[in-house]
Amino acid sequence: MKNQTNSRREFIKFLGHGSLALSSLNLLSSCSSNNIKASPFPSFKDDVILADGLSYYPIISWNDPMNSKEVFGFNNDYINIQMINANELIMWVNHEYISPLFVSGLERTKENVDIEKSLVGGSLIKLKKENNKWKFIYNDQHNKGVRGNTMIPFANNVSVRGSKVVEGTLANCAGGKTPWNTFLTCEENYDGFYGERDRKTDQIKSNNFSVGWQTFYPKNLPEHYGWVVEIDPFTGQAKKHTNLGRFAHESATCVTSKDKKVVVYSGDDRNDEHLYKFVSKTDYNLTSGILYVANIKQGKWLPLDLNLSPILKKHFKSQLDVVTYPREAAKILGATPLNRPEDIEVHPITGDVFIALTNNKPKGDFHGSILKISENNNLHSSTEFTSETFISGGKEAGFSCPDNMAFDSKGNFWISTDISGSAVGSDPYKPFGHNGLFVIPAHGKNAGKVIQFASAPVAAEFTGLCFDPTEKTLFVSVQHPGETTKDLNKPTSHWPNGTGIPKPTVIAIEGKFLTQITQG
Ligand code: FEO
Ligand code: CA
Ligand code: CA
Ligand code: CA
Repeated sequence: MKNQTNSRREFIKFLGHGSLALSSLNLLSSCSSNNIKASPFPSFKDDVILADGLSYYPIISWNDPMNSKEVFGFNNDYINIQMINANELIMWVNHEYISPLFVSGLERTKENVDIEKSLVGGSLIKLKKENNKWKFIYNDQHNKGVRGNTMIPFANNVSVRGSKVVEGTLANCAGGKTPWNTFLTCEENYDGFYGERDRKTDQIKSNNFSVGWQTFYPKNLPEHYGWVVEIDPFTGQAKKHTNLGRFAHESATCVTSKDKKVVVYSGDDRNDEHLYKFVSKTDYNLTSGILYVANIKQGKWLPLDLNLSPILKKHFKSQLDVVTYPREAAKILGATPLNRPEDIEVHPITGDVFIALTNNKPKGDFHGSILKISENNNLHSSTEFTSETFISGGKEAGFSCPDNMAFDSKGNFWISTDISGSAVGSDPYKPFGHNGLFVIPAHGKNAGKVIQFASAPVAAEFTGLCFDPTEKTLFVSVQHPGETTKDLNKPTSHWPNGTGIPKPTVIAIEGKFLTQITQG
């Protein structure tokens, strides 16, 4: 990896603004014309605070009825959309995890677990544009939950530990969209629900953030989770893809390579875990292909494949075994440990791959960075690449702990941060205020600068950045507001209602600030 100074210079060069310095900027002065206002950032307010020239409205909140049978799940995360026509769309929203205190009760009973199971997974919801605003349509035929209690088959008739069909999807963090317009939803911290197996002893163990569902559902094994799940936007039909491997999948970012292969990039968001990519064998499907893991120093993608990497035969009985426990296989092949790979985005113009490395506190990396990978010959199916740090988090950059990201069609780079709720406001995170939304414009006089344009409510994180096709509206999930609450009578956040308990909510952000950048 090249050093930071070089990469910044090259970033500016890449943007075509060689003389600009990369620095944080909390106010886009052109938006406030002659009337320059003080920046509202950083903020510690219990609200969605926006830059001048922006406003937001809620789309849907946890517990809002979707129809007579289902409510919108908890902790909305990844968002993607499928247009029906210019004024109607189907939105997929992940529901990553639950807070028993808010949704059910701290006591571990089957009743409480059953409520929790119904609130994780994801939701398909219909939105319609009315008076220039996107509006959720109650009881639309497209509204459908795919949840922790939905029966889901493995793709390709695969059987995992004797099961071809398993109960539920959970820990749904980020995701992706396939070239054939289905959604991919990623099962991330699955071990918090049904535990994880210790391969040496074959025992299933709970971790310290577990909600302990395995007590009531011992047939739901750890190996049923940690996959990438494909969702049909129109029917809600779901299938789990074993080919893409099993780990704490943050995202599944798809791109079609020049040789027509489907390439899916995915990070394993855990300290010192790895970056993976799946390359399809033929075009337009995920049914067969090779899963690779990255050695960043050597710039090589290493095949997690029994035939291409025969050393794996000593440790694994079958290819299914390899993809079920790829963390072990990755280490045998010499994959690079990374500082928690979160979201991944492919630049719409250059094809470079950007990976948020959010932090690695035991290693002293508190503010994270964004890694850039350039595949050889700009071929996404290539087995070799070069890499460099694109930007490091910290005071100079103005943000800490990059997590979810998005490019708009012009190559402006939109970033959200995830300083953990309990760490917000204390050292070394105090200078950053609450979590925020940032943009690095690719054009205009602010090109290359890091501009904060939103701040989240208490203990919340913005996730799932997703533009509507006009790029005049940015959909965002406000996830886990008030998650530091210990007593329901004293919630740490009252967002969005200003009273009562907080509610994770999907919002739409719009305004001149946004359009000046996306339409510029
Ligand atoms: Fe669910 Fe890695 O964030
Ligand atoms: Ca994340
Ligand atoms: Ca993203
Ligand atoms: Ca995170």
